[in-house]
Amino acid sequence: MCLSASVPLVRLTTISSLRCLVAAACWRLDGPLGDVQSVLARPELAHYVSGWPRPGELGVVAEDGPPVGAAWLRLLPEHDRGYGFVDAETPELSIGVVPTHRGRGIGSLLLKALVLSARAQRHEALSLSVEPDNPARRLYERCGFQVVGAVDGTLTMLLVL
Ligand SMILES: CC(C)(COP(=O)(O)OP(=O)(O)OC[C@H]1O[C@@H](n2cnc3c(N)ncnc32)[C@H](O)[C@@H]1OP(=O)(O)O)[C@@H](O)C(=O)NCCC(=O)NCCS
Repeated sequence: MCLSASVPLVRLTTISSLRCLVAAACWRLDGPLGDVQSVLARPELAHYVSGWPRPGELGVVAEDGPPVGAAWLRLLPEHDRGYGFVDAETPELSIGVVPTHRGRGIGSLLLKALVLSARAQRHEALSLSVEPDNPARRLYERCGFQVVGAVDGTLTMLLVL
């Protein structure tokens, strides 16, 4: 498996990779969400990719031929909050790896690369939302995210950079 040749992760420059990976970032994909189109049909999920990237937004993608995983930041305003909204200056992280490629370290690489890029871009913190029983929570804790709140049964986590 090649993660984009010698550079393991590639900065996303277009929205196309994100759109095809947005369903991979949804926990419980075997639930009612299903596929990319059904995710993009829901405004509360589609706003994580529409118009991406805006100024200050970053992303990385892992490729194995086609894109197989991505981690990206979204800055959403107060009136259009994401699940992990903290404030309008704190980007919210989304991450997803297609099911065939999970458990090989790709998600960890994506997360570390994005955190480094966010720090280099002078972001002060990153937030995210995770369900308490999602195993991804351990990944976030290993990277230094801490629980700072709970909304409708999901945990809001924050990483101060
Ligand atoms: C979370 C996710 C991005 C991790 O990517 P990955 O490439 O599998 O990650 P890694 O191989 O680096 O493993 C890191 C963690 O991912 C989780 N993971 C690993 N294999 C997995 C699998 N087959 N299915 C689900 N989660 C898995 C585990 O929590 C693992 O941590 P652990 O070692 O403490 O158990 C990926 O599993 C995924 O896309 N899950 C569904 C979408 C999701 O939950 N996104 C986050 C929403 S908050």
